Amino acid sequence: MSRVLVSGGCGFIGSHLVRRLLREHPDLEVVNIDLLTYAGRPENVADLADDPRYTFVHGDIASADDVARAAEGCDGIINVAAESHVDRSIMGGDEFVTTNVLGTKRLLDHARAHELRYLQVSTDEVYGDVEAPHRSVETDPLHGSSPYAASKAAGDLLVLSYARTYGLNASITRGSNTYGPYQFPEKLIPLFTTNAFDGKDLPLYGDGMQVREMLFVEDHCAAIDLVYHHGAAGEAYNVGAEHEVPNIETAHRIIELTGADPDSLKRVADRPGHDRRYALDCAKLRALGWERRTDFDTGLALTVAWFRENRAWWEAIKSGEAYADYSAKNYGARG
Ligand code: NAD
Ligand code: DAU
Repeated sequence: MSRVLVSGGCGFIGSHLVRRLLREHPDLEVVNIDLLTYAGRPENVADLADDPRYTFVHGDIASADDVARAAEGCDGIINVAAESHVDRSIMGGDEFVTTNVLGTKRLLDHARAHELRYLQVSTDEVYGDVEAPHRSVETDPLHGSSPYAASKAAGDLLVLSYARTYGLNASITRGSNTYGPYQFPEKLIPLFTTNAFDGKDLPLYGDGMQVREMLFVEDHCAAIDLVYHHGAAGEAYNVGAEHEVPNIETAHRIIELTGADPDSLKRVADRPGHDRRYALDCAKLRALGWERRTDFDTGLALTVAWFRENRAWWEAIKSGEAYADYSAKNYGARG
């Protein structure tokens, strides 16, 4: 039996990843360390509570003590935990640096001291926006545009430095915009879907022509699993859908799937520093054996259906005071 520490396993991608690791690797135990921030929802992994190969530790990756307690007996670490929302980072919170930079360092220090395998789950946002027809390759320079992206780029650089300086067996995945069940309803797809079900406006930033590569969460987790087990030390791997979609098209598809009023789509003030386009070249990951399995039409239909059937999950979040405060701050000023 081997054992892996996954951070952020109560969040969106983390909860899918923990479930996948337990399902695909019968010889693996999974420890989930999660601080349970606003985005960490124990109910996302409630179905795993009785699994003897699963352990939950309530803790902070920025605390060396919490990390040591959670990582006892582990052979490796997959760092999924992060402050993940660009708009919140623009509001200026310190937690983006504490978790995404210091938290990464704490995990790296532990991995180094105990000679563990390490995987950093990162993002295409570290490349900044890229002009067509270029697709980012792993050796491109890092240019994070938002405080979130800058903090993730700092995390990536720390990982690469530990691989080079200390010989740590560490790799990085850089995923594109991911969607699916359990995504926190502050992000484009779950926000627009749940607003549409409630007859509310869909606030489109700027002209809506910003391009994202929408990747179904199961495809993203399959790549993380593959790179954790077979990726090379000191290497990064892009994980993208290689299918570009402008936000306005995503919005129109959600309107069709939910039957919302097309007039509910409202243009609002743009996100400051907004990246126009991300696009990843994933040849390196494909050479490792990965391929995207779920196309956008299929994945989006599945996702909208999940949000339709799991109203209680997102209503509990959206009816809370903290969510209302965030919404007022983010959208109040946009008109
Ligand atoms: P999320 O916001 O849904 O979940 C983050 C999780 O991390 C939550 O459970 C939260 O409680 C936990 N967490 C936050 N700070 C912590 C701390 N200090 N210690 C322990 N746990 C902490 O995030 P997500 O969308 O699932 O993203 C997961 C990772 O994937 C992030 O690293 C993000 O940068 C990366 N990523 C996300 C996407 C995407 O589109 N969602 C795409 C590419 C990469
Ligand atoms: O690309 C990977 C990144 O994808 C991850 O690193 C981040 O953690 C994840 O949050 C996501 O970042 P984005 O900023 O791309 O996701 P978001 O859902 O916030 O926005 C997607 C696009 O939709 C972006 O161009 C902004 C736009 N948008 C977003 C919101 C919330 C709107 O037009 N209106 C909105 O209300």
